[in-house]
Amino acid sequence: MRKKIVAGNWKMNKTLGDSEELTLEIMEGVHIESPIVVILAPPTPFLHRVKALAFEHKAIKVSAQNCHEKESGAFTGEISVEMLRSLYTDYAIIGHSERRQYYNENDATLQLKIKTLTKWGIRAIYCCGEPLEIREENQQYEYVLDQIRTALFNLTAEEMANVTIAYEPVWAIGTGKTATAEQAEEMHKFIRTTIEGKFGKELADNLSIIYGGSCNPSNAEELFAQNNIDGGLIGGASLKAREFLAIIEAARTNL
Ligand code: PGA
Repeated sequence: MRKKIVAGNWKMNKTLGDSEELTLEIMEGVHIESPIVVILAPPTPFLHRVKALAFEHKAIKVSAQNCHEKESGAFTGEISVEMLRSLYTDYAIIGHSERRQYYNENDATLQLKIKTLTKWGIRAIYCCGEPLEIREENQQYEYVLDQIRTALFNLTAEEMANVTIAYEPVWAIGTGKTATAEQAEEMHKFIRTTIEGKFGKELADNLSIIYGGSCNPSNAEELFAQNNIDGGLIGGASLKAREFLAIIEAARTNL
């Protein structure tokens, strides 16, 4: 059975104190034996503290919001995977559309990031998804296929098994405009079939594909009820414990 995941991407929000408070509230609301993998992605300076607080909580994992593809070196301001490992980081979100848009992150680099993450035992949450103009031209499948081909097709089976895919249509991120459950399911199914064609059925069946883009307590249940949607990557609604916990509950009831 593939993992069901609800991940909260806090982006560039919250101070150390806020992060501690939110982590404790979420810990209190998630059962230690929860079958849902709950992932918290705080800003990098707070990763260590959030992990320390949640260390004993079996269901809660922590994620970075980015990492560098190189092992180490003269890259001022960057964070290496080995550094993340030393903070007991479990996952790293890579290829988020904001990083693609503002920091020129591309799929060729993302492939290298996945390789480095696998080497250091950190799981990759690889984000893909089309911008609005591509959806309007009905080119979303070609667009996502191209992203996946460049970032994932040259991975080994071991590296691919280390990946969770997040489908995040760019037009739905932070806009309050969610993909319908049908639109999301169709794309998730397409992604799984694509991965199956390249890496085989067993790997594709075990691949968690989560949805992101204005996912909230009122639409989560319908999204998570779809066959190929294995949870969510949550932005805005992950900043408030009550909303985030309601989304985790929606995932639990759809197991
Ligand atoms: P949103 O962000 O839930 O605020 O739309 C999702 C994301 O960027 O992962």
